[in-house]
Amino acid sequence: MSVPLNIDQLRHRPPRVLALGSHRGSIQSILDFDTLVGHKQPSIAAIIATGRRSERYFFGGREVLIPVYPEPQDLPVEVVQDTGLILNVLSGRRAVSMAIAAMEALPQIQGGMAFAERMPERLALDLRIAADLHQVWLIGAASIGLLIPGALKLGPIGGTESRQLIENQLFAPGTVAVLSVSGGITNELIHQVIASGHLVSFAASIGGEHWPLSSPAELMLAAEADPATQAIVYTGELGGTDEHEVAALVKSGRITKPVIAYIAGRAADLFPEPPQFGHAGAIATVAGESAEAKTAVLRDAGVQAPATFREFLAAIHQLPGRVSEPPAAPASADQLLHSRRPSLLATTVSRDRADGSVEIAGRNLLELASTESFAVIILMTWLGRSSISPELEAVADFILRLSIDHGPYQSAVINTMVAARAGQNLTASLASGLLTIGPRFGGAVNAAAATWLAGVRADQPASTLVENYAAQRQYIAGIGHRKYNLHQPDPRVAEILRHTEPLESRPFTDFALAVADTTTRKRANLILNIDGAIAAVLLDLLHAREGLSIEQLQRLIEVEFFNAFFILSRSVGLIAHYFDQVRIDEGLLRLGPDDVAFIEP
Ligand code: ACO
Ligand code: LMR
Repeated sequence: MSVPLNIDQLRHRPPRVLALGSHRGSIQSILDFDTLVGHKQPSIAAIIATGRRSERYFFGGREVLIPVYPEPQDLPVEVVQDTGLILNVLSGRRAVSMAIAAMEALPQIQGGMAFAERMPERLALDLRIAADLHQVWLIGAASIGLLIPGALKLGPIGGTESRQLIENQLFAPGTVAVLSVSGGITNELIHQVIASGHLVSFAASIGGEHWPLSSPAELMLAAEADPATQAIVYTGELGGTDEHEVAALVKSGRITKPVIAYIAGRAADLFPEPPQFGHAGAIATVAGESAEAKTAVLRDAGVQAPATFREFLAAIHQLPGRVSEPPAAPASADQLLHSRRPSLLATTVSRDRADGSVEIAGRNLLELASTESFAVIILMTWLGRSSISPELEAVADFILRLSIDHGPYQSAVINTMVAARAGQNLTASLASGLLTIGPRFGGAVNAAAATWLAGVRADQPASTLVENYAAQRQYIAGIGHRKYNLHQPDPRVAEILRHTEPLESRPFTDFALAVADTTTRKRANLILNIDGAIAAVLLDLLHAREGLSIEQLQRLIEVEFFNAFFILSRSVGLIAHYFDQVRIDEGLLRLGPDDVAFIEP
């Protein structure tokens, strides 16, 4: 580890954590620790995983959503700037490649832990080299993490049940550092230090790999440098020569604090050949690597190194500086001890209040409906925002009124009319029309928004975009119309675009118009259509008047936000056509041979 682990700095300013992979027990225990020590927000800022956009956990007594992203480079800026540590619970090769990707994507990463066991040594070396290159300290692999009571829990270390966190007094900063190559023994030592009447200053699970990312010596130096630490308890095991390094540090005076150490593995002497114990590094192939030899080296340097685990525990209990009485658990512990049943569903849109009233977008429903326009209520619920700019309200209201119908000629209305004449009810006839809205008709708004956003983001010339689509024989969403063309433009489009004229800049509208200027040179009907116009003005106003970032606009595209306006509005027209057909009721529609051409095979 080229970057020393600064425990005291982490204790005073614990950064937020990026989880690489998801391990529910670890993450929930970290959020419970956060509650216990009074953190105001979960220390897990985001999770890197696929197949979902969020995971739900308890934060105290309430449930919260932790955002999930596919790759570190997908993290929005507001998450990146907050994150300084890695919780790596991935396994095998991905544990290394994703950790390196995270260090490359997040330059402010200070350190992290690696949970994976039996990481291929070549990969572990690559990870160590990458960490040194990025000036990052790492603990592991095969580690259960790093714990600084009262400040940071990076991993399942200290337990994963809320009861364990409280019993191990992880809320109370102490004076005894716990270091162990074994995860299970790390947790046992934490418990033993507490049982002996002491408190833990920090605990690190080194991991039992051949080449640990942080060696026992490096972590001993971290303990030596930690002003809160007054004694160090450590368990190692046969294999390797790390303890020789520790002994040299003690002898040279670089480690002055009292160390109590136990080296496991004496049973190896009973085997005719050197046995491989559980950890990858737990095999003594040469004399200096045996438990006895390493114990002797430590003793020779002045370390208290009992021969048996029992004597080792007794030595911990004889450490000076017992606390006069165990610290009382903070009031926040109560939130962790109540039974917490996860809800079946999660929503951020609405809920019942204790008084029985209904809350929508953070407002009382009756108060909202009595004071806000339909367009504002729509935008507040669709965007999850408590205020909407007048410009966005105006264009949304206009789009919703303008798009309700466009004559009985287009596919959605025809399907609603046919279903109504087939005797279908309102819901089925409306659904029949709505199901017709798709990539060619009415459902191109979102795809057009994606095209305009990508073009502006890449600062791509409109002509290049048109050429690329033509080369791929792809249609540009938001371009083209069966009825309108250069000589008979769609009057709705000009009215929609007027809403971005007052803006200081309207990059998305300008880009859409530039694309249409190119396509109409090819064919007169390849105009900017209503779908493309709606997409462009919403992007410009969301960016310029609601302050949404490019990443936030991208997330709206991912949930198909831009199609929703046409669907909602056109539903009004489809319902009107249903009522009309039921009123007219000419009976079942059946086409005749002249209506459908039979094409000879
Ligand atoms: N982008 C690029 N080229 C196009 C596009 C387009 N969007 N639309 C048509 N063309 C080209 C075709 O490639 C074809 O070129 P070619 O003769 O060199 O092969 C030529 O124009 C004619 O193609 P058609 O499919 O016959 O054009 P049509 O007028 O039938 O298309 C339509 C109209 C369906 C709207 C089409 O333009 C399209 O699919 N656009 C994209 C989807 C879209 O924006 N739909 C919303 C329409 S408005 C609304 O629904 C409310
Ligand atoms: C509409 O709004 O339905 C039209 O733009 C589509 C059409 O073909 O009339």
